Amino acid sequence: MYGALRFEPVSAQIRDALEDLLADYRRSGDGSGAEASATRNGYPGTDGYIEFWSRIACEAWPERGFVRTDTLIAFRGERAIGDLRLRRTLTPDLERDGGNIGYAVRASERGKGYATAMLREGLRRAAEIGIVRALLTIEITNAASLRVAEKCGGVVRDDVVAEDGAMLRRIWVETGSS
Ligand SMILES: CC(C)(COP(=O)(O)OP(=O)(O)OC[C@H]1O[C@@H](n2cnc3c(N)ncnc32)[C@H](O)[C@@H]1OP(=O)(O)O)[C@@H](O)C(=O)NCCC(=O)NCCS
Repeated sequence: MYGALRFEPVSAQIRDALEDLLADYRRSGDGSGAEASATRNGYPGTDGYIEFWSRIACEAWPERGFVRTDTLIAFRGERAIGDLRLRRTLTPDLERDGGNIGYAVRASERGKGYATAMLREGLRRAAEIGIVRALLTIEITNAASLRVAEKCGGVVRDDVVAEDGAMLRRIWVETGSS
């Protein structure tokens, strides 16, 4: 049995815990897609991550292709163990690659049910803002994430090819069903 998670919106108040999480993502080489997006848009490092994703939490940035997105950091006690993103709307690009909800867990904390708990939290928050079914797009090679979606009631819509050539599985999850 693992401790319950608490979710904090991204902000300078949790900078140290976030820096520790991002350093872990950099070391493992996965989970850092959100940092890469911020960096690509001119907001590098932990401070850039905070500034960029706090901005996108308040308003969309259509010129850069970003819809309004909530970024939540999952904590067990004082330790940040993962990040969760809830995209409030879909664009044609996000319908193909991105979807409504994304998540990552630091490598040392995987296999403990945390991503499943995080997706459930994302679905609960999606329901609160009127999203009836949330779209997930998951690389078909990402067995762990596919399993997370399945555990939360995900139903396969189809498979599509992403811009970079990866095969993505598009999955719907009813936000009231997890
Ligand atoms: C995908 C990811 C979020 C999963 O996090 P997690 O906290 O380990 O997930 P959970 O513990 O909640 O559930 C993982 C499930 O996948 C299963 N699993 C793990 N590796 C697997 C594999 N190679 N093949 C099949 N199932 C696998 C686990 O057994 C578990 O299922 P179970 O509860 O039935 O035993 C994590 O691996 C991660 O952060 N990866 C990098 C970022 C990423 O891929 N994000 C998702 C983008 S769509």
